Amino acid sequence: MTKINIAIDGLSGCGKSSTAKAVAKALGYKFIDTGAMYRAVTLYMLDKQVDINNPDAVEEALANIRIDFRFDSETQKNETFLNEQNVETAIRSMRVAGQVSQVAAIKAVRKAMVAQQQAMGKDKGVVMDGRDIGSVVFPDAELKVYMTATTKVRARRRQMELAEKGEKADLAEIMENLEKRDRIDSTRSESPLIKVKDAVEIDTSHLKFEEQVQKVLDLAKQRI
Ligand code: C5P
Repeated sequence: MTKINIAIDGLSGCGKSSTAKAVAKALGYKFIDTGAMYRAVTLYMLDKQVDINNPDAVEEALANIRIDFRFDSETQKNETFLNEQNVETAIRSMRVAGQVSQVAAIKAVRKAMVAQQQAMGKDKGVVMDGRDIGSVVFPDAELKVYMTATTKVRARRRQMELAEKGEKADLAEIMENLEKRDRIDSTRSESPLIKVKDAVEIDTSHLKFEEQVQKVLDLAKQRI
């Protein structure tokens, strides 16, 4: 069977990653959460107190950052590693969420991440989620999905995710963070979040998780 690449872009917190992961599992494909990569870079910048307005400091930091994903067979989860350290929980914190869009808007950061993402998908068989996958990383992806949901629905889902990890967060604070990230992500000059012409839009506000996964799988099967 031919393998395809599936690009899932869209607003923050509308279930792109969990959908991409389930689709990848069903097809036996690799799942890559590119948001986790930008989050890991941000965590590094925060922990090392890198001045993100200083291009030399950013370049130096990027040269010292190694990100990889490992599958933990015990938890059945994909974990993000930053320089050999498991940062899966740390990158999901509100501290990182508060800064990630600023870091992701830096040209040098995007250049480094996009190169890694393109290498990961060169043999096809990848489900990748992010903001610029269909537009920049894989403009030739066989399936492009653009996911949306209302801010309130997205914030409630994010609040539940954080609660599962033991982090209590205020709904209004999450809504504000989601809207701020959408604004920065959609208006930046470097690879802004856009719905490309050939993307299929899926509004997940009123869909059950299994339904949104099935929609993507149906679209994928038409193309395989
Ligand atoms: O997908 P997630 O919400 O974890 O992404 C965190 C942030 O990383 C986004 O708000 C965005 O600023 C940035 N990002 C990006 N390009 C991607 C994936 C994520 O700019 N491909």
